[in-house]
Amino acid sequence: MKNLFLIANWKANKTEEEAIVWLEEFDKNKTIADGEWEAKEVIICPSYPVLTRVYDFIQKNKLPLRAGSQDVSKFGRGAYTGEVPPALLEKFVRFSIIGHSERRKYFNEDDDVLRDKVNGALSGYSLPVFCVQNENTFIPQGVKIIAYEPVEAIGTGNPDTPENAEKVASFIKEKNKDVTNVLYGGSVTSENVNSFTKMPNIDGALVGGASLNPLEFLRIIKNA
Ligand code: PGA
Repeated sequence: MKNLFLIANWKANKTEEEAIVWLEEFDKNKTIADGEWEAKEVIICPSYPVLTRVYDFIQKNKLPLRAGSQDVSKFGRGAYTGEVPPALLEKFVRFSIIGHSERRKYFNEDDDVLRDKVNGALSGYSLPVFCVQNENTFIPQGVKIIAYEPVEAIGTGNPDTPENAEKVASFIKEKNKDVTNVLYGGSVTSENVNSFTKMPNIDGALVGGASLNPLEFLRIIKNA
């Protein structure tokens, strides 16, 4: 059986209180996904103000989860007001989403910026989960984990077809020998997750909206 990555991208949602409620609910109901934890790496990517609380809760309660970040600065430590560099994240995260289409669209992140972010993450603590919008999106050297997320599928309730996602995933692996895992993202739910993860070249899912509900996310883990 292949190992799967299931990543919750909370985006700009959840106050500290809401994050704790989510984690408590998840903890109380985690038997929903019993038997699934060994083959599944489950990562929660909250917003920065909540990241350390999520990390602490996971540690204290020994939850089968890891914390991740939704982004990382392309700069190192220093005079970069408002930025969060790899050195300040390394205690808490092992994975960072980089190049999400919302970062590209609203924050003008281009290939050069994203290459720097990938290099920063790799030189420090974490594995980039690098988002691509299609099979032709530039992938910086050293990236091993890709999330294929077609823009028209994000937050719309209209996922790509598993067959097309599989075609894109296998093309990406074929073209980029460093890439070991390709996840699918875009309107993933507990109902459709398995149609993607059962494909031979799809190694997990990046989940936005559906990850905001702990019970739905547990069902995604179970069904994947
Ligand atoms: P969605 O978002 O699951 O809400 O479509 C996915 C993502 O943007 O990572």
